[in-house]
Amino acid sequence: MILSIDQGTTGTTAFVFDGEGNLLGRSYSEFPQHYPQPGWVEHCAEEIWAVTQKVSAAALERAAVSPAELAAIGITNQRETTVLWDRQTGEPVHPAIVWQCRRSADICKAHERAGHTDWLRQKSGLLLDAYFSASKLQWLFEQSPQLAARARAGELCFGTIDSWLIWKMSGGRAHLTDHTNASRTLLYDLSTGDWDRELLALFGCPAQILPQIRPSAGHFTDTDPLAFLGISAPITGVAGDQQAALFGQGCTRPGLIKNTYGTGCFMLAYAGDERPDAPPGLLTTVACSPDGSPAFALEGAVFNAGSAVQWLRDELGLIRDAEETEVIARRVPDTGGVYLVPAFSGLGAPHWDPAARGTICGLSRGSGKAELVRATLESIAYQSNELAALMAEALGVPLTCLRVDGGASANNFLMQFQSDISAVRVERPRQVESTAIGAALLAGIGAGLWAPGKRPESLQEIERDFVPSMTTERRDELIGGWQRAVRSCRAF
Ligand code: G3P
Repeated sequence: MILSIDQGTTGTTAFVFDGEGNLLGRSYSEFPQHYPQPGWVEHCAEEIWAVTQKVSAAALERAAVSPAELAAIGITNQRETTVLWDRQTGEPVHPAIVWQCRRSADICKAHERAGHTDWLRQKSGLLLDAYFSASKLQWLFEQSPQLAARARAGELCFGTIDSWLIWKMSGGRAHLTDHTNASRTLLYDLSTGDWDRELLALFGCPAQILPQIRPSAGHFTDTDPLAFLGISAPITGVAGDQQAALFGQGCTRPGLIKNTYGTGCFMLAYAGDERPDAPPGLLTTVACSPDGSPAFALEGAVFNAGSAVQWLRDELGLIRDAEETEVIARRVPDTGGVYLVPAFSGLGAPHWDPAARGTICGLSRGSGKAELVRATLESIAYQSNELAALMAEALGVPLTCLRVDGGASANNFLMQFQSDISAVRVERPRQVESTAIGAALLAGIGAGLWAPGKRPESLQEIERDFVPSMTTERRDELIGGWQRAVRSCRAF
């Protein structure tokens, strides 16, 4: 049995799979988001740990699996989110700064003005953006010289959420991460596969606080039964959630692409062992090769997708749950010219504009709930379409097929609109939890239960294909409107 933990931005899900890849039990729980100022997003690392234990226990119970039956544990996580904790006590010294948080945008601007963009992109494959961990760390050390001194003295540990969970699950014995997560910090050199001294110096980050980097499949550590639900099992698979989804979707041949519809939308194209040339706006990142060792991928990241639906639910109270958006969106034939650009935390790929703000435009007196809900779903597809266009440019061939996963991929209206607006076949697997499947596969490979490249058949089934049915004229008209809406949200 394998326990796979998917620690996402808005909630944690735990899954229990058996040796044939059958899902025996799962449990999900959301946890609080903290917004201390406009554009800032924080998590409480202890709340993440508590919810992770809760759902793991519940999933095991639902699967009727005892701790002794666990052969391996896989962890996959929201990436870039930055946790700093006390090496002695294991207590966080500051709220976790979430990947969506824009507080370090000025730090990035200053580095950009000082001319650091090009060498930094060459080394890390990333951009100077507050999205990545490094400027969040610099912000922490600049606002607290005491934390900076403690970091230099080796009293603190830094980690993305994978490191934090490994630390807690091992009872504070192991301070580790994997290549995919490390590659999202802006402190990692793609060519050496290691932390980089120049990047560390630029962001004022002492090497003493960094976790050790390991391949995504292999023995990381054993959990401490006193710390983690009485379980003593090896953690043998670790990957950032988007790379885990890429792996879970079987994208381990160059050119295969997946799009995950989670809090944000993340489109990744597997590129193999050779580092690809990323066009402006796309990132180069570490992916998992068939045996879990580091390979490369191109990535486009959209910051707000499912979070926009959550906003309709939590802030506007327009819907009760995400599922009903499909029915509501179908009540109207179109949005009547309404566009919603959910740039709540600036815009990611391909615009990379931290100053952009969420915008609704094209309203008329007749615009109502259905138009707004539909415009929100369509915004997810428009943003993904911008990524698809960049991917096609990077790969030099038009996209023919997009493998989709993540919560919102269950929305048939959204998937059909994606297919229409991108003129691409959209392929949805029976199990849309590709992230957790990827982590389970890595854990199974790392524990020697499954051979690299061989996937249990139950994880390969395609549930539904969506094929484009929109005319080119209509598509161009709609995309033209979207582009005008994006321009207005950037000018705001
Ligand atoms: O880079 C951020 C990403 O890893 C977050 O993923 O699934 O929480 O939207 P998700």
